[in-house]
Amino acid sequence: MTIKTALEPIETASLDELQALQTARLKWTLRHAYDNVPMYRRKFDAAGVHPDDFKELRDLRLFPCTTKQDLRDNYPFDTFAVPMEQVVRIHASSGTTGKPTVVGYTQNDIDTWANIVARSLRAAGGTPKDKIHVAYGYGLFTGGLGAHYGAERLGATVIPMSGGQTEKQAQLIRDFRPDMIMVTPSYCLNLIEELERQMGGDASQCSLRVGVFGAEPWTAGMRREIERRLGIRALDIYGLSEVMGPGVAMECLETGDGPTIWEDHFYPEIVNPNSGDALEDGEYGELLFTTLTKEALPVIRYRTRDLTRLLPGTARTMRRMDRITGRSDDMLIIRGVNVFPSQVEEEICKNEHLAPHYQLEVNRDGHLDSLAVKVELKESSLTLSHEERCQVCHHLRHRIKSMVGISTDVTIVNCGSIPRSEGKACRVIDKRVLVSS
Ligand code: DLL
Repeated sequence: MTIKTALEPIETASLDELQALQTARLKWTLRHAYDNVPMYRRKFDAAGVHPDDFKELRDLRLFPCTTKQDLRDNYPFDTFAVPMEQVVRIHASSGTTGKPTVVGYTQNDIDTWANIVARSLRAAGGTPKDKIHVAYGYGLFTGGLGAHYGAERLGATVIPMSGGQTEKQAQLIRDFRPDMIMVTPSYCLNLIEELERQMGGDASQCSLRVGVFGAEPWTAGMRREIERRLGIRALDIYGLSEVMGPGVAMECLETGDGPTIWEDHFYPEIVNPNSGDALEDGEYGELLFTTLTKEALPVIRYRTRDLTRLLPGTARTMRRMDRITGRSDDMLIIRGVNVFPSQVEEEICKNEHLAPHYQLEVNRDGHLDSLAVKVELKESSLTLSHEERCQVCHHLRHRIKSMVGISTDVTIVNCGSIPRSEGKACRVIDKRVLVSS
């Protein structure tokens, strides 16, 4: 196995070279999907398109999109484009409802994935000398094993901790002195609290230099909080199981300006989430991916439901994606106003007295929806008087009203009473669903 330390030539190739590679790879993928997956053959035939219609990149818009429902309808393995003996690994993403989405990988897919996670870690400043603490969950979730294989491919020393056992994790971070951590931002906050408890209130003296955070939306405010309390650089890694897992896009250390999409393997597009019409770079909408090299599970124009926009490349030739504002299915509609949990998080993080531990509760009273925000005070603000706490609540309510446009009921709750995450955080409790089901 070769361990690479320099940038790969394609990362800094010319746009023409990149687009030529994408065009060739898209031709292969469309043909591979059409020939080997009955679902794609049916969908292409129904739309009156054929892989031969693809001549240049813009022609991809002629092809139909694929949705999570398409994958569910072909549960568990009918989306695979290779015989089962070539599939060496299965992962699955657990939806909140119904059956999980199953994804498969050939040995080449696993190799490609390890290479792009290694590339991502290199973009974060990682080297073979580093010890990398992986706190993404191991198992059917792609986070743990995806990070693990990439860190090994980089040649680093992997500490395969998985999620949970927070006290022990913090102890091992202090003992093993890792240089990098890979973890969800919400679980990282949980770990920081434990580290602070074990280290006399200050975790910024720990050995960590860089954190590679993803798997859930997080705001710029959350990034500042993590960077300050852990004394690290916090970078954003993006990915989803259907497309590969972690490492579809990674923010580069030198620019810190949003994840670079590894466009030699994943071709991004943005569409209007309602109509599905293609939008241009720079316009906000739903992110779509077509895989360019995947053998076992090629996906064509897969609708991620993630809302963002495409930005020009900076540290690399490849385009970047803006921070994900939310998922189209995370969006709450409260009395006609569209609200993303991240907008509320942004306001909480700006308040000097509030900790980034919060939960949103949606209730229905008659026909009217209401949003309650429960948030914890920072430890340093526990001495606030009753009156001062009321002022903090009032201030947050006012900020949400003016920035997001809805009235909320804000309550300050005791430290530790918002459940801590061990993986992806659950920020919203929608009691309307409970009432109506
Ligand atoms: O969460 C893969 C992953 C693991 C990515 C570890 C990064 C780190 P899924 O469980 O299939 O896969 O969930 C994918 O998570 O569509 C987004 O909604 C969300 N997501 C992933 N990364 C980010 C990110 C993994 N950096 C879904 N920012 C995606 C915001 C993210 N949301």
